[in-house]
Amino acid sequence: MSTTLISKARAIAGPSRSVSGARTRTRTRTALPARRGLASVVSESSAGRTAPPPPPSPPPAPRSPRAEGDIGSVFASLSGETEQPFPERFLDLKRSIIGDADNQARLRHSWTTLTERLAQLAPEIERKQQACIPQTTYEAFIENPSKELIEDIKSCGTVIVRNAVSEEEALQWLEETRAYLALNPQVKGFPADDKQVFEIYWSKAQLAARAHPRSLAVQRALLTLFSAPPTAPVSLLTPLTYADRLRIRNPGDAKFALGPHSDGGSIERWEDPNYRKVYERILQGKWEDFDAWQIEHRAVANQDMYHGAGSCGVFRAFQGWTSMSHTGPNEGTLRVFPYLREMTAYLMLRPLFREKRFRAELDHESYLAADNWELDTESTRFANSALGRCQEYNDETHPHLELSRTMVSIPQVRPGDQAWWHGDMIHAVEANHRGKGPSAVMYIPSVPLTPLNADYVRDQREMFLAARPPPDFPGGVGESSFKGTGRAEDIEGLAGRNAMGLEPFEITGDLTEGERSARQQANKVLGF
Ligand SMILES: [Fe+2]
Repeated sequence: MSTTLISKARAIAGPSRSVSGARTRTRTRTALPARRGLASVVSESSAGRTAPPPPPSPPPAPRSPRAEGDIGSVFASLSGETEQPFPERFLDLKRSIIGDADNQARLRHSWTTLTERLAQLAPEIERKQQACIPQTTYEAFIENPSKELIEDIKSCGTVIVRNAVSEEEALQWLEETRAYLALNPQVKGFPADDKQVFEIYWSKAQLAARAHPRSLAVQRALLTLFSAPPTAPVSLLTPLTYADRLRIRNPGDAKFALGPHSDGGSIERWEDPNYRKVYERILQGKWEDFDAWQIEHRAVANQDMYHGAGSCGVFRAFQGWTSMSHTGPNEGTLRVFPYLREMTAYLMLRPLFREKRFRAELDHESYLAADNWELDTESTRFANSALGRCQEYNDETHPHLELSRTMVSIPQVRPGDQAWWHGDMIHAVEANHRGKGPSAVMYIPSVPLTPLNADYVRDQREMFLAARPPPDFPGGVGESSFKGTGRAEDIEGLAGRNAMGLEPFEITGDLTEGERSARQQANKVLGF
């Protein structure tokens, strides 16, 4: 993170007591009064009611170019920044979520069942390794996905889609990318002295990969794993483009060691009312009933309340990459915690609890035991959360996940294979690349058409046409002076051009009310 951004985050945070100072040892269990607003969000159930779609949370406005930088400015684990204290208002937020005595009782019970479940999972994950990750082929996934495959993807939150594009095409993209980088040696990248994660967004190879009909078909299939009410202004059949970087990681690299994190903001998951609503069941102490595949509130959540370097301006149903290399475990590949519901329940409940006795005082099992943890109604701390950064995790801040045992590397991939992971997933990049060849991927996510996402695509289109970095990424002149940069006319096919906001969405008679509304609103946003 640049010093400017650090000072901005501190200015937002304002004066506050230190994290350690907040951890008073006075432990009184308080039956908290339900507060207006926040508490009603947590206790209200929408089951069995037909409600109008929720209004979107306000986006940070106006969207302005970000400071120059690279991926190192986005992650505390890459920049070396430590957890910052939160202002007092976060204590009110936490107390409101913890709620009244009934909710507290449910939360305590759910903490016990969840931590027991996590303790069961750790040895299972450690034993199964890559077998935890569902794998399929393009044909099987698009043409006739089995019920078992769908259930496995929903449970794990991750899937490998083989042969999404041909090996030849993917290798050709790598070759073209290398040629583009060679033509433009001034390109920024991380690490600066041995660039491997490149600040390029508009190479012709990237444009082709994003608009590839088979890639768009996979994106549609992934989006339809989610469900949305028929009136919600969401189109799961219309993927949008979210332009991102690419990486070509060299053998031997140990710098791009991206620690465990979730994309899609950090404290926003608790602070933004629509985002919090996604996790309502968990915060009501009913984590077993949590469905990570409902899109309604996700689509209108504000994941970027602090315009941070690591925030995401769209609702990204799946993050994903398309491989341009043969890469397996220990070769600088992706790692995930492969149980989506349990992982999400823990990440949401963790800040509501604190340990009674510290790790140094107990053996490992006794430290993690549910009776060593209690609801925290006294501190502003949300473990390892940040204002304007990704949510990161480690064994100290999120001990029950036992990440050093449970983050598994995905299976071997070939050029043209894709890895996809749900937007809440805790994921990381292997610290060391011990392979012999490059570990090369293009980051291409799966993003549904919604009015808020169309709003981002409008701003992204402006930056694309000027060959500058997309709105969510470190700013500057980008590729505006580069040679061989892709242009609008290089994007082929209506679906690919729609995804970039270059053509209006068709309004046909067979659309659901929500689909039609999403397309109409998007056309308006995009000026068609
Ligand atoms: Fe990420």
